[in-house]
Amino acid sequence: MQLEKILNKHFTKKQQQVLDQFINNDKWDLMINYGAVRSGKTVADNYCFILSLLRVRKIADKDHVKDPLYILAGTSRKNIYNNVLNPLFNDFNLIPEQDSIGNLHLFGVTIVLAYTGTIAGLRGIRGSSAYGAYINEASLANEGVFSEIRDRCSEGEGRIICDTNPDVPTHWLKTNYIDKDSPLIISNHFVLDDNTFLSKRYIESKKATTPKGMFYDRSVLGLWVTGEGVVYQDFDQNTMLVDEIPDNLNYYCGVDWGYAKGHENVITVFGDDPETDITYLTGIFNSTGKFIDYWVDIAHKIQEEHGRNINFWCDSARPEYVNYFQENTINARNADKSVMDGVEYCAQRIKTNKFKVLRSCAKPFLDDIYQYVWDPIKGVPKKEHDNVMDSFRYAVYNQHKKYENQVLENIYL
Ligand SMILES: Nc1ncnc2c1ncn2[C@@H]1O[C@H](COP(=O)(O)OP(=O)(O)OP(=O)(O)O)[C@@H](O)[C@H]1O
Ligand SMILES: [Mg+2]
Repeated sequence: MQLEKILNKHFTKKQQQVLDQFINNDKWDLMINYGAVRSGKTVADNYCFILSLLRVRKIADKDHVKDPLYILAGTSRKNIYNNVLNPLFNDFNLIPEQDSIGNLHLFGVTIVLAYTGTIAGLRGIRGSSAYGAYINEASLANEGVFSEIRDRCSEGEGRIICDTNPDVPTHWLKTNYIDKDSPLIISNHFVLDDNTFLSKRYIESKKATTPKGMFYDRSVLGLWVTGEGVVYQDFDQNTMLVDEIPDNLNYYCGVDWGYAKGHENVITVFGDDPETDITYLTGIFNSTGKFIDYWVDIAHKIQEEHGRNINFWCDSARPEYVNYFQENTINARNADKSVMDGVEYCAQRIKTNKFKVLRSCAKPFLDDIYQYVWDPIKGVPKKEHDNVMDSFRYAVYNQHKKYENQVLENIYL
């Protein structure tokens, strides 16, 4: 009873399950902890990481090995530091020593860093045999790197632990490992509600603001699902079209370059209401077969109406057009085109009622938004009916990106 109380104070039930498997089950060689965002996976794995190092030292002592190797893998050095090494310091006051070739040392074990994003990340571990590995954000790893790390962990019953957010159901980590019916592989499914250390307010807010469909199923329920049907499922023209817009909006634009039929050029104009934080789509200019000077004229007109400094968030795939805009004193900026982050951001604004469309310019937007659908195989939006949608995403995502992240962190964490 006393022990249960202590455990509950320090770990969620799901984390206790993971630790129990780690300590009391010695049959497995690969443990995959997957699921919802902020559900407690990395904290669980960080504990397992420390226990792994202690275990490795013990096994190495038995084998009379002086310098056992352990692989710590992640998509980049920065991610390994943020997700694993920083918490190690914050939670346990542990700082591994670093040697001249970049390896770390803790509890008498040498920790080799491996970067999983590309096959080049293998350089550090080629040829070496390790006593185990910890792979952070495993679904983002290159499959070849993942399998090479498994091969390397051949020494002294080497075990691998990894954590990951879910991806498409056809992802190699799901089909080749999680779904494998093997006693050597165990997996644990985390949902947001598992994390009893998060405030109720955070969990409720996360559920209320996460867009319906794939984003909710992955981020809150931790499921390996793909997108189905329309991308922006929460958009409702019955409630989101308006006939008037407030005065004093802060304006900015999105630009998707194009010329041919099916690839029209689109400039969208948005205004943010600083009082309500609502974004209004107030204008759309879309056309095919027009040269760049035509679009410069349109941009100048937008500037006349909304001020010379207005941002134009542009598709960076046509640098010559972006440059030409800049040469014509238009504040053209290369948009961050990260598809999933951008779509999720826009979907979230729609879901939270922070997005409205001025009825007089709605037609091209409505034409696209109801036909902008997921590619269920790839798990990203199909590149069809996407011109207005891309322009929308470049503008709204980029104009808000940094500021919003900061606000969320400040409020909830
Ligand atoms: N055992 C615990 N004790 C105290 N706080 C915890 C514990 N487990 C989780 N938390 C809190 O919950 C947050 C999220 O946990 P963690 O980083 O492990 O989630 P995650 O599932 O890895 O998230 P992501 O999918 O975003 O990487 C932590 O930053 C920490 O604040
Ligand atoms: Mg994590």
